[in-house]
Amino acid sequence: MAVETQAIEALLKENRSFPPPEDFAQQANLNDPEIYTRAAEDPEAFWADVARGLDWFRPWEQVLHWEVPFAKWFVGGKLNACYNCVDRHVRTARRNKAAIIWEGENGESRVLTYWDLYREVNRFASVLREHFGIRKGDRVCIYMPMVPELPIAMLACARIGAVHTVVFGGFSAESLKERINDCQCRLVITADGGYRRGTVIPLKRSVDEALQECPSVEGVVVVRRLGLGLTDATFTHMQEVRDHWWHRVIEDVSPRSDCEEMDSEDLLFILYTSGSTGKPKGIVHTTGGYLTGVYATTKWVFDLKEEDVFWCTADCGWVTGHSYLVYGPLANGATIVMYEGAPDFPDRDRFWAICEKYGVTVFYTAPTAIRAFMKWGTEHVEKHDLSTLRLIGSVGEPINPEAWMWYHQNIGGGRCPVVDTWWQTETGHILISPLPGITTTRPGSATFPLPGIEADVVDEAGQSVPLGGGGYLVLKRPWPGMLRGLYGDPERYREVYWSRYGTMYFAGDGAKRDEDGYFWLLGRVDDVMNVAGHRISTMEVESALVDHPAVAEAAVIGKHHELKGQAIAAFVTVKDGFKAGTELQDELKEHVVKKIGAISRPDDIIFTSELPKTRSGKIMRRLLRDIAEGRALGDTTTLADPNVVAMLRERYEEEGG
Ligand code: WTA
Repeated sequence: MAVETQAIEALLKENRSFPPPEDFAQQANLNDPEIYTRAAEDPEAFWADVARGLDWFRPWEQVLHWEVPFAKWFVGGKLNACYNCVDRHVRTARRNKAAIIWEGENGESRVLTYWDLYREVNRFASVLREHFGIRKGDRVCIYMPMVPELPIAMLACARIGAVHTVVFGGFSAESLKERINDCQCRLVITADGGYRRGTVIPLKRSVDEALQECPSVEGVVVVRRLGLGLTDATFTHMQEVRDHWWHRVIEDVSPRSDCEEMDSEDLLFILYTSGSTGKPKGIVHTTGGYLTGVYATTKWVFDLKEEDVFWCTADCGWVTGHSYLVYGPLANGATIVMYEGAPDFPDRDRFWAICEKYGVTVFYTAPTAIRAFMKWGTEHVEKHDLSTLRLIGSVGEPINPEAWMWYHQNIGGGRCPVVDTWWQTETGHILISPLPGITTTRPGSATFPLPGIEADVVDEAGQSVPLGGGGYLVLKRPWPGMLRGLYGDPERYREVYWSRYGTMYFAGDGAKRDEDGYFWLLGRVDDVMNVAGHRISTMEVESALVDHPAVAEAAVIGKHHELKGQAIAAFVTVKDGFKAGTELQDELKEHVVKKIGAISRPDDIIFTSELPKTRSGKIMRRLLRDIAEGRALGDTTTLADPNVVAMLRERYEEEGG
C-alpha cells in the first residue's frame, strides 16, 4: 500500500491520532497504563525494580544519592556492563543466538552469535590488558568504521573497566586530536579505512595526522577493513612499536579475560558533543544507572522480544549507537543488525533490501533519513517485502507530521506503531516517547515522559507553563542514565545545565504541550544547530572559519532545510587583500571540513563587508536567519547600522542563497 506524499496531507486532516493496534497491545511488554502512576508514586523503588533486571555482583546500598547537580545511582552496587551484555547470555540458550548481523556496504555479511561475541570480546580484552597494559580507568579512543570490531572494542573496554570515547569516523584529524587530548587517551583503536558510497575513508591516515600532537597515546590498533593491496600501498603506514594490526595482536593473548568488578558509579564512557561554545563537551556516563536506563527503555519503547531483529541505523560514533545499537539491545540479549554504509548505495532501496534480507522486525532511524526516502519515492520501498516489521521509531530531531505519516503508511504499512523518541547524549537514554502498547500517538509529537521521568515546560522564570503553551523543556528529577558531568570540567557542567533553574535540568530544547498534555519538541534554543540529526555548534564553525587567513569575522546560523532539517549558512567578512568569490567560497567550505569534518560543511558562504550587530556588539543571528531563509526582517531597531542588513540581503539574493 504505497501512499505518495500528496495523499499524506489529506490523511493528516482526517485522523491525527493512532491508538495502539489491539493485537499489538495485547502482546506488548508493557500494556498497563498503571505503570505511570506506580512509577510516579515512588520513583526510586520503581527504578530499583528495573535495575534488578541486570546481573549485579553486589547489590546497592542506596538507590539514589542526589546532591544537586550530582547524582549517584545504585550506590555501592557492583556490576560489569560487558558481563550484562555478553557473559550472562552465553550461559543460556542465547549462546547460539545471533547477537550481531553485520552487512558491509559492499554486500559482505557476517553473523556473530553471542558465543562468537563472547570469544572475540574476551580476546580483545586480553589484548588491551596484556599487550598494552590498559587498566581500569584508562581512556581508550575508538575511531572506526561500522564493522563488528567496533562494538567488540567498546565491550572489551567495558570488560576491563577502561573508559571508551568513540569518535565518529566522519570527524577530521583535528577534531580527533582535540578529543584524544581532552581526555588523555592511552590507546587508539581504528581501521585502515571504511567504505562510504563506494569510496574509501582513510581513517588511519587521519589518526597518523592527529597523533603528531597527542603525547598521551602509546599505541594504535588497526583493523584491516580494506583489501590487502589497498591497505598497504595507499592508506596505511604502520609505525613500528606504536602501531599493531588487530588480527595479529589477538593471536597470542589469553582466550579469556575476566570482567572487572565495577562500581555502579565507575565511568563507562565519555562521548563528546557540541555545546554552544567552540569547545566540544565530554559527556560522562557511568555504569549502573546508564545500563539500567538503556536496558529498560530498549525493552519498553521498542517492545523488544526474544525473536526480534532490531535495526538501529545510527553510527556507533553517536549516542544512539551507544545506547540502542550496543548496550541497550545486547543487555536484553537481542539480535541486532549493523550496517556499514550509506542508505543509497548502490541503490536507493538499500535499507529496505536489508530489512527484507534479515527479516527486521523493529527499525529505528532519523527524520532526516525519512525525508530523503520520501523524496526518493515509494517505488524503492515497494520493491521489498517489509511485512516482518512490527514497530518503527524515530530520533534525533523533531519529526514533521508529514514525514511521520509517510513513515507510518509506507514503511510501517499503516499497522506498525511509530515511536518518536526524545533524548540527548546527556540523558543517556530515551526520556520522552510513546509506549507502543499503551500510548495513542499523534504525528509529530513525542507524546509523554516515560514512567519514572518527570519533565515540564517552563517559562524564563522557571514557572510551569499551563497546557496549551510553550517554553523550555526541563527535567525535574534525576534519572538513572543522566550524565554525571562534563569530563574534567564540573564548573561548565553546572553552568550549562543547572545555572538557569537551579534544581531543574535545562535541556536546551524548546517545547510546547497541547491541551491533552502531549509534548511537542520545537528544536534547540541555544546556538547549537541540528544538521541531519547531528548537533553542530555555530561557534565551532565560526572558529574554524576565522582560522582561515582570509577571514576577518564570521557568523554562522542554521537555516531551514527540506531534508536536513537545518543547513549551515555562514556570513563572512574578508580581510584586505583577499578576493571574495566562488573560489574562496569553496576554499572556506573545505577548510571547515578539514577543521571539523564533513558533517560541518557549510551549504552557503555569504560575503559581506560587515555583520549586523547590536550596539553592544552582539551579532544579530535572528536577522541573519531571516535573511538566509528569505523572510521579512524582524525588529531591527537595536541594530547599530541598519544599512548592513539591506546590503546583506541583496548580496544573499544575488548569490542565489
Ligand atoms: C534533538 C540524540 C525532537 C533535541 C539522541 C536534542 C529531538 C538533541 C528528538 C540531542 C526528538 C533528539 N524530537 N528533537 N524525538 N530527539 N532531538 O545529543 O534538540 O545527538 O536536544 O542525541 O536532538 O541530540 P544528541
